[in-house]
Amino acid sequence: MKIAVIRGDGIGKEIVGEALKVLNAVSKKYKVNFNLNEVLLGGIAIDKTGGPIPQETIDVCKASDAVLLGAVGGPKWDNIPSNLRPEIGLLGIRKALGVFANLRPAILFPQLKEASNLKPEVLGNGLDIMIVRELIGGAYFGEKKRIDIPGGQKAWDTLSYSTPEIDRIARKAFEIAGKRGKKLTLVDKANVLESSRLWRETVTEIAKEYKDIDLQYMYVDNASMQLIRDPKQFDVIVTENTFGDILSDEASMLTGSLGMLPSASVGDGKVGIYEPIHGSAPDIAGQDKANPIATIMSAAMMLRYSFNMNEAADDIENAVSKVLDKGYRTPDIMREGKQLVGTVKMGDLIAESI
Ligand code: IPM
Ligand code: MG
Repeated sequence: MKIAVIRGDGIGKEIVGEALKVLNAVSKKYKVNFNLNEVLLGGIAIDKTGGPIPQETIDVCKASDAVLLGAVGGPKWDNIPSNLRPEIGLLGIRKALGVFANLRPAILFPQLKEASNLKPEVLGNGLDIMIVRELIGGAYFGEKKRIDIPGGQKAWDTLSYSTPEIDRIARKAFEIAGKRGKKLTLVDKANVLESSRLWRETVTEIAKEYKDIDLQYMYVDNASMQLIRDPKQFDVIVTENTFGDILSDEASMLTGSLGMLPSASVGDGKVGIYEPIHGSAPDIAGQDKANPIATIMSAAMMLRYSFNMNEAADDIENAVSKVLDKGYRTPDIMREGKQLVGTVKMGDLIAESI
């Protein structure tokens, strides 16, 4: 099992280190060998090679079975030309591997109920939402331009989608919904955007093949409100790239912290990318403060989706749960009466519980 490892920038280095610790524990327990290859992406790649996505990184990732990724970006690279920014590396590797479906599960650990900003009665006995975000289309990848005009400049980003692009992500979402609560909500802005209207038509057509799935439609502004008002109404949400980016950050807070949400990015190819949904948090980098759980849970998703190691994935999820049960908390989820630990200690505790 070949894993390309991308630590990236900021807290990326630290949190990936903890996920590797946990994978090492899995490797010992199940007597399997993970063949790790570290490659550069983002700001660190700019510093060391002159660009955010070296060819070697693409080659190594393509030749691997999965990619484990931390986070990229930071203020240090904020003033370089936009086509060389660290984020271009992240978008580039997603595109190069063709991972069009980004699965972002927002699950509330019962132990973290008090870390959520929502009232206990809204959370009930837990939350389990799966956001399926389209990852390699839309405004992120459409034509971008800036021109001079009288009075200043004009800039645009093009949000476009084709039927095949919508078709493949919609099928993925229907299939996922079929294995869960059989409810799918398409989030769009079809009252305003033409691209959203194409999403609606296409998804409605595909729904005829998935008669057991209850398909609902919701405008994105309403969806962002409903997520706070009554998150339990959602099972699977499917949406375009930008809306998915925004709604998944929102959903993460329902579960207590941005530091808790993992993700899996998959496509038709064999290589998946596994990364936390949060960014590189430069403000707390190098201080042993970051929560490594989102990355550790991303490693669990890797075992489940790329290596079919369901039992080991369960082990990781149970280990996280056990450590939370014992009251250990990183600063982002810390509450009175709990035991504050740093990034490294949290990783150690989880690895020991495997
Ligand atoms: C995410 C991040 C990235 C994105 C950034 C860092 C480019 O916010 O994975 O959600 O917008 O996709
Ligand atoms: Mg984001």
